[in-house]
Amino acid sequence: MIGLSLCLVAVQRGLVLKLLLFKIAVFTTCFASHAHAVQPFFHDDESSALLQFKESFVISHTASRYKGAYPKVLQWNSETRNCCSWDGVECDEQTGNVIGLDLTSSCLFGSITSNSTLFSLRHIRMLSLADNNLNYSQIPAAIAQLSGLTYLNLSGSYFYGQVPFEISNMHTLSYLDLSHNYDPDTSEKFLQLKNPSLKTLVLNLTRLEVLYFSHINISSEVPHSFSNFTSLRRLLLEDCELHGAFPTKIFHLPNLQVLSVEFNENLSGHFPEFHERSTLLELGLDRTGFSGRLPSSIDKLNSLKILGISGCNFSGAIPHSLGKLANIAILALSENNFIGHIPSSFQNLTQLTLLFLHTNKITGSIPPWLGNLTKIKVLELSSNKLEGPIPQSISKLMNLHNLNLGANNLSGFLEFDMFLNMKSLTDLQLGFNNLSLVFGKTNTNATRSKFKLLGLDSCNLIEFPNFLGYQNELEWLHLVGNKIYGQIPKWMLNTSVDNLMALYIGSNFLTGFNQQSTVLPWVNLRLFDVSYNMLQGPLPIPPPSIQKFDVSNNKLNGEVSHLFCNMSSLYHFKLSNNNLSGMVPYCMGNSSNSLSVLSLGNNSFHGVIPQICSNSGSASSLRWIDLSHNKFQGQLP
Ligand SMILES: *[C@@H]1O[C@H](CO)[C@@H](O)[C@H](O)[C@H]1NC(C)=O
Ligand SMILES: *[C@@H]1O[C@H](CO)[C@@H](O)[C@H](O)[C@H]1NC(C)=O
Ligand SMILES: *[C@@H]1O[C@H](CO)[C@@H](O)[C@H](O)[C@H]1NC(C)=O
Ligand SMILES: *[C@@H]1O[C@H](CO)[C@@H](O)[C@H](O)[C@H]1NC(C)=O
Ligand SMILES: *[C@@H]1O[C@H](CO)[C@@H](O)[C@H](O)[C@H]1NC(C)=O
Ligand SMILES: *[C@@H]1O[C@H](CO)[C@@H](O)[C@H](O)[C@H]1NC(C)=O
Ligand SMILES: *[C@@H]1O[C@H](CO)[C@@H](O)[C@H](O)[C@H]1NC(C)=O
Ligand SMILES: *[C@@H]1O[C@H](CO)[C@@H](O)[C@H](O)[C@H]1NC(C)=O
Ligand SMILES: *[C@@H]1O[C@H](CO)[C@@H](O)[C@H](O)[C@H]1NC(C)=O
Ligand SMILES: *[C@@H]1O[C@H](CO)[C@@H](O)[C@H](O)[C@H]1NC(C)=O
Repeated sequence: MIGLSLCLVAVQRGLVLKLLLFKIAVFTTCFASHAHAVQPFFHDDESSALLQFKESFVISHTASRYKGAYPKVLQWNSETRNCCSWDGVECDEQTGNVIGLDLTSSCLFGSITSNSTLFSLRHIRMLSLADNNLNYSQIPAAIAQLSGLTYLNLSGSYFYGQVPFEISNMHTLSYLDLSHNYDPDTSEKFLQLKNPSLKTLVLNLTRLEVLYFSHINISSEVPHSFSNFTSLRRLLLEDCELHGAFPTKIFHLPNLQVLSVEFNENLSGHFPEFHERSTLLELGLDRTGFSGRLPSSIDKLNSLKILGISGCNFSGAIPHSLGKLANIAILALSENNFIGHIPSSFQNLTQLTLLFLHTNKITGSIPPWLGNLTKIKVLELSSNKLEGPIPQSISKLMNLHNLNLGANNLSGFLEFDMFLNMKSLTDLQLGFNNLSLVFGKTNTNATRSKFKLLGLDSCNLIEFPNFLGYQNELEWLHLVGNKIYGQIPKWMLNTSVDNLMALYIGSNFLTGFNQQSTVLPWVNLRLFDVSYNMLQGPLPIPPPSIQKFDVSNNKLNGEVSHLFCNMSSLYHFKLSNNNLSGMVPYCMGNSSNSLSVLSLGNNSFHGVIPQICSNSGSASSLRWIDLSHNKFQGQLP
C-alpha cells in the first residue's frame, strides 16, 4: 500500500523514476505497472547505440562469477525503443539522456574496442561492466570520451594490458575500480601500470573518493601525492607488486575509511603517531614489509573494526591501548615478532570475532577472561611461548569453531571433556605442548561437538580416546608422538569411514590392525602416516584416493600389492626400514607419474628395479629416491 501511494505521488509529479543506482523494490514494481501512464522522453540515438553495444556481445553464463548474475540486456529490444525503461539503464529525468549504465554481472562475453557505440553515450556519469568477460580486451582509450563519468567500475572483467593514459584526464572520477582483472586460480595479473605509472595516472584525479586497483601489476612506489587526496575514503591496492616506503601521511587522510595494501611483500612502512581521531574502519597491511612497533597512539583509530597486520615484521610489545579499540571485530597480529603478554585490556574487546596472534613470541599464560569474549569464532594462539594451563573458561565460547593453542609451552592436566559441549567447535588443535589430557565420564556418544580437525600430537595419550568413536565428521586426525600402544582398536577402524582424509599416527607404539583384512577402511583417505611404530603383519592397502603413504620404520613384512598400481595420485611413498620382500610391482614406474618421493630402503626386496625413470618424454616428478639395502638386481633405469 505504501508502495502504491508513493508511486501515485511520483507519477502525478511526472517524475521519471531512477531505476538504477538506488533501486528500491516498491518503485520498480510501480514503474512497471504504470509505465503506460508515464511518457518519459528518451534519445533515439542512445537507444540505437545501446542496442548495437548489446549486439557486440554473446550471452554466456560462465562470463560472470556472481551467483545471482543474469543477462540484463536480454530484455533490451527495438520494440520498446525507450531505453530509459531498460534494465541497467538510467536516464536523466530532465533531459532524458542516458546517465547511468549498470551491467554488473550481466553474463556478457565479447571484446570491446574504441569504436564501440558505448562511447557515444556522452552524458553518462556512471558505468559498470564489472564481473563480465571482456575477452582480454584492452581498456579502450575512447573511454575518456565519457568525460562526465564520476563512477567507473571495470573490476573482474578480463581486461588486459596497459591501463590507458587517457584515464588520467577523467578529472570528474570519484569512483574508479579496475581491480580483480586477474586469473583467480593462478593469480596472474592481466592489467599493468607501467606507462603511465600509478603516479602519473592519478595526478589529476584529485576528486577520487574510492580507488580499487587490487591485483593490477603496478610495480612502483605508492605515490606521495595520495596524501593530498583529501576526499579519499577507500583505497585498495592489494597484491599490486608495490615496493618502496609507504607514504605515512596517507594514514592521516581526513576521510579515509578503508585502506588495504596487503600482499605487497616488498612494500615497507611503519605506523605514524596518531594525534587526532581517525575515521578508519578497516586497515589491511598483511603480508607486507611493514615493521617497527605499534604506537600507543593507535587508540586514536577508535572506529576501527578490522586490523590486519599478519605476516609483517612488527616487533615489541602489543600496546595496552589496543584494548581501547572497542569496535574491533577482526584482529590479526600473527606471524610477527611481538613479545610480552596478551594485554589485559583485550578483555574490553567484546566485539571480537576473529583473533589471530599465532607465530609470535608471546609469553605468559592464557588469560581466563578470554572466556568472556563470547563472540569469538576463531582463536589462534599457536606457535608462541604461552605457558601454564588452558583455562576452563574457554568452554564458554559457544561460537568458537576454530581453536588452535598448539606449539606453545602449555602444561598441566587438561580435562578434555570441557570441549565436548562446544557445539560450534570443529577445529581443535592442542598438540606440541606439554599437556596431559584427561578424559572424564561424559557420555561420549552424546557429545555436541562434531570435530573436523583434531590435533592432539604429543599430548601424552596412551590409547585412542573413546570419544573419537562418535566423531563421524572427522577429516583430519593428528595423534603423532603420543604413547599409544598395542593394536589399533576395531572401533577406531569404523570412525569417520566416509570423511577421514588425513590420519597421522606416527611415533607411537602401535603393533597392528585389529582385523583380518589389510585394506584400510577410510574410503577418501589421502594422507596416511604411521611411521615409527611397531606395526607387524602385511602392508596395509589404502584406497585409490591416497596421495601420501608413509609406513616407514615399522616391522611390516610380505609383498607390495599390485593394487598400488591403481593409486594414480600417490606422490609420497615411503616403505623404508621394514621387513618387506618380494618384487616391487613393475607398474610403480609407469602408472605413477605423480611419484615424487619413493623410499624403499632397508627391506628385502629383490628382482629388477621398477622402471621409475622410463618416461623419457615427460620430465619425471621424482625428487627423492632410496633403494638402498635391498637385493635388487640388474641395471639402474
Ligand atoms: C575472444 O577473443 C578471441 C581471440 O582474440 C577471438 O577469437 C574470439 O572470437 C573472441 N570471442 C568473442 C566472443 O568475442
Ligand atoms: C571496430 O573496429 C574493429 C577493428 O579495430 C572492426 O573489426 C569492427 O568492425 C569495428 N566495429 C564497429 C562497430 O565499427
Ligand atoms: C565494482 O563492482 C563489484 C561487483 O562486481 C563490486 O564488488 C565493487 O564494490 C564495485 N566497486 C565499486 C567501487 O563500487
Ligand atoms: C609486473 O611488471 C613488471 C614490470 O613491468 C614485470 O617485471 C613483472 O614481471 C610483472 N609481474 C607480474 C607478476 O606479472
Ligand atoms: C600537495 O598539494 C600541494 C598544493 O597543491 C603541493 O604543493 C604539494 O607538493 C602536494 N604534495 C604532494 C605530495 O604531491
Ligand atoms: C575497560 O574499559 C573500561 C571503560 O573504558 C575501563 O575503565 C577499564 O579500565 C578497561 N579495562 C581494561 C582491563 O583495560
Ligand atoms: C567474566 O564476566 C563476568 C560478568 O561480567 C565477571 O563476573 C567475570 O569475572 C568475568 N570473568 C573473567 C574470567 O574475567
Ligand atoms: C612437562 O610437564 C611436567 C609436569 O606436568 C613437568 O614435570 C615437565 O618438566 C614438563 N616438561 C617440559 C619439557 O616442560
Ligand atoms: C585397477 O585399474 C584397472 C585399470 O584401470 C582396472 O581395470 C581395475 O579394476 C582396477 N583395480 C582395482 C582393484 O580398482
Ligand atoms: C623378516 O621376514 C622374514 C620372512 O619374510 C622372517 O623370516 C624374518 O624373521 C623377518 N625378520 C624380522 C626381523 O622380523
